Amino acid sequence: MPKPTILVIGLGHLGGVTLELLARQEWAGRVIGSSRDSERGAARCNLARLGAMAQGYPGEIEFVQLDLRDVDQVAESIRRLEPDLVLSTASPQTWWLPELLPPEAAARLSKARFGAWLPIHLTLNLDLMRAVRASEYPGPVLTAPYPDVVNCVLDRLEMAPTCGVGNIDEIVPKLRLLAAKKLQVPASEIEVTLVAHHALQKAVFRSPHDEAPQAVPPFYLVIDHLGEDVTDEVGGRDLLLEPFPLPGGPAWGFLTSGSAVRLVEAFLSNEDASLHAPSPAGLPGGYPVVVGKGLIRPRPLPDLSLGEAVQINERSHPFDGIHAIEEDGTTIFEPVTVQVLRDELGYDCERLLPHEAAERSRELVARFREYAQSWGVDLGQQR
Ligand SMILES: NC(=O)c1ccc[n+]([C@@H]2O[C@H](COP(=O)([O-])OP(=O)(O)OC[C@H]3O[C@@H](n4cnc5c(N)ncnc54)[C@H](OP(=O)(O)O)[C@@H]3O)[C@@H](O)[C@H]2O)c1
Repeated sequence: MPKPTILVIGLGHLGGVTLELLARQEWAGRVIGSSRDSERGAARCNLARLGAMAQGYPGEIEFVQLDLRDVDQVAESIRRLEPDLVLSTASPQTWWLPELLPPEAAARLSKARFGAWLPIHLTLNLDLMRAVRASEYPGPVLTAPYPDVVNCVLDRLEMAPTCGVGNIDEIVPKLRLLAAKKLQVPASEIEVTLVAHHALQKAVFRSPHDEAPQAVPPFYLVIDHLGEDVTDEVGGRDLLLEPFPLPGGPAWGFLTSGSAVRLVEAFLSNEDASLHAPSPAGLPGGYPVVVGKGLIRPRPLPDLSLGEAVQINERSHPFDGIHAIEEDGTTIFEPVTVQVLRDELGYDCERLLPHEAAERSRELVARFREYAQSWGVDLGQQR
């Protein structure tokens, strides 16, 4: 059987690491990296190609220039390239840029909560899904930018990607590690079943110096050891919320990429695998899922219906500053989110209409850069 073709859109920090990991997988065939900038993108693909070859892999990497804003060009490229899977990490601005502000400014802005940046994470995914529909490409589309909410908005427009990557699946290894330590057994014997939203991450990966969170988003958690429920024995909730510092910034890409590559492999396999992923078929938040043969579905749980799982994640939206997502995809922000962005950035948005995402994203990026400048931080070429 021919090995699969994988199209990776966006070759920034996350896309670059994902490309490097995919280039070193026995099961992966042709990997096509793409971004707007031909010179930078081709050089990035050359690096991945040589690195893979140096490590003993064929390094079958190609580059194609794509600008997601050009929907017709992207649709035509997808038709021509005939990928077996599309993974997009493209975004006008990455999540950790506010961390470059002085601590006082970063703390003030973080009160807006993560969902405040929704237009930035939404805009290119909207363009991507328009292109996917236009190309009539039938395969899986996986997306990285804030899938717990973005894909839910796209679902209202009947344009949900197949699922997201990262987020919930970044929490699972922490739980396996800590539970294994507590029981003094190998982590391979521990299985975690988790329903949780992106909003939970802040509480899960705090450092020992951070205050314990006053309120924690709802979640569902079962920890098994060799098939036996040990959630209470290991203190599942405490393990989940135990401080677990990680470096901020681009190094996170290694965690997300590890999870994304495993998910990609599962999609392209003929066997079903039991994993976790954000937003399968545009559902809010993250779920245990069954993945294989190009398909994904939420894994049925013995004591929690899918409706109840969805409710857990719907109730988590406000912890990220998202008050509600209406039937037409309009997103209403929490009052605190609106107020903090108004006070700090002079940016005013109570409701985000999907068709305004591009314009809102441009304004938010520009105002954030002005704000950084006002605090003496020049973001320069930093994306
Ligand atoms: N789900 C998760 O767990 C998770 C984890 C980490 C990051 N993320 C998200 O993933 C996204 C990417 O993160 P990152 O750190 O890799 O960001 P980044 O380093 O800024 O990379 C984003 C890339 O998007 C590309 N891009 C921008 N506009 C484009 C367009 N119009 N068409 C095609 N490509 C375009 C850029 O490449 P060119 O300029 O060359 O076009 C850039 O390299 C962000 O939204 C981030 O928040 C999600």
